Amino acid sequence: MIADFQDWAKSRQVRIETSLQTLLPATNIAPVRLHDAMRYTVLGGGKRVRPLLAFAAGELSQADEERVTIAAAAVELIHAYSLVHDDLPCMDDDVLRRGKPTCHVEYDEAIALLAGDSLQSLAFQLLAEYRLADTPQMQLEMVKRLAQAAGSRGMAGGQAVDLASVGKTLSLPELEFMHIHKTGALIRAAVMLGACCGSGLNEGQLTSLDHFAKCIGLAFQVVDDVLDAEATTATLGKTAGKDAENNKPTYVSILGSTRAHELAEELRSDAYQSLEVFGATAERLRQVTDFIIDRKF
Ligand code: IPE
Ligand code: IPE
Ligand code: MG
Ligand code: MG
Ligand code: MG
Repeated sequence: MIADFQDWAKSRQVRIETSLQTLLPATNIAPVRLHDAMRYTVLGGGKRVRPLLAFAAGELSQADEERVTIAAAAVELIHAYSLVHDDLPCMDDDVLRRGKPTCHVEYDEAIALLAGDSLQSLAFQLLAEYRLADTPQMQLEMVKRLAQAAGSRGMAGGQAVDLASVGKTLSLPELEFMHIHKTGALIRAAVMLGACCGSGLNEGQLTSLDHFAKCIGLAFQVVDDVLDAEATTATLGKTAGKDAENNKPTYVSILGSTRAHELAEELRSDAYQSLEVFGATAERLRQVTDFIIDRKF
C-alpha cells in the first residue's frame, strides 16, 4: 500500500528545502547582497512541484534518493531563476511572488538579473559536481536535457514567444507551442532527470514516461492560466488577473474557462494513459498529476 500522498510530499518538500539551504551560498560569503537575494528567492516558498516529480520518477526507476535530491535541486534552481526574470519590469512586471515582494522589488533590478543568472549557473554546477547517474554518459545526458529545457528551445524560448504575443490572439497550436516551451520543458526535464538517476527503466518505459511528462507539463500551465483568471491574489501569493491586465493570450482568454478546465481533464487522462505500462508502480506519479491539476494555487 502506497503511503499517504500528503505525508510523502511533505517529507520530500522538507528534504529539498534542507538541501537547497546547504547548496546555496551562505549570506556571510561575499557578495553578500547577491547571495542574500538568491536565498530570498529560492528558500521558504513554492509548491516544489518539479522536485516532487523528480522524486516520483526516481522511485519508478529505483534511483538513489540522494542523487534525485541534487537533480531536483538543480531543476528547482532553474525554476526559481525563471520566476525572478519573469517578474522583472521588462517581462511581466510583477511585485508579488510566493506571498512576498518580488526579487527586484526587495533588492533591485540589477541584483534580480544577477541572482537569476547565478541560480542558473549553480544548477549546472550541481549536475557537474555530484555523482548522479550510473554512467558518465547518462550524467552528461542529464546536463544536456536540463540545458535544452532551460534554453532558447525550451523555457527561455517560450518566454520570448510569450512576450512577443502580448496583445495578440494566438491560434491553438501557437498557444500550445508557447506553453509547452515556457513551462512544459522544465517540468519534462524534472521527470526525466529524476528517472535518469536510476537504471530501472528500459527505453520503451522512458519513452512512455517522457510522454507522460509532456502531458503534465502542458496541463500545469493550463491550470496556471485558469488560476490567474479565477483565484485570488491572497490564495496565489502572486497578483491574480495579471494575464488579462498584461494582455496575454492564455488558455482562458482563447478557449474560455469551461474549455480550459476540460482540456486540463483531457490532459490528466492522457497522462494517466501514458502511465498504464507501469501499472501500480506509477501510483506516485498519478498522485502528483492530481496534485498539479487539482491545485488551488
Ligand atoms: C509558476 O510556477 C510559474 C509557472 C511556470 C507557471 P509554480 O506554480 O510551480 O510556482 P511555485 O514554485 O509553486 O511558486
Ligand atoms: C511563467 O509563466 C513561466 C516561467 C516563469 C518560465 P507565467 O508568467 O504565467 O508565471 P506566473 O503566473 O507569473 O507565475
Ligand atoms: Mg510570464
Ligand atoms: Mg508571470
Ligand atoms: Mg501565470
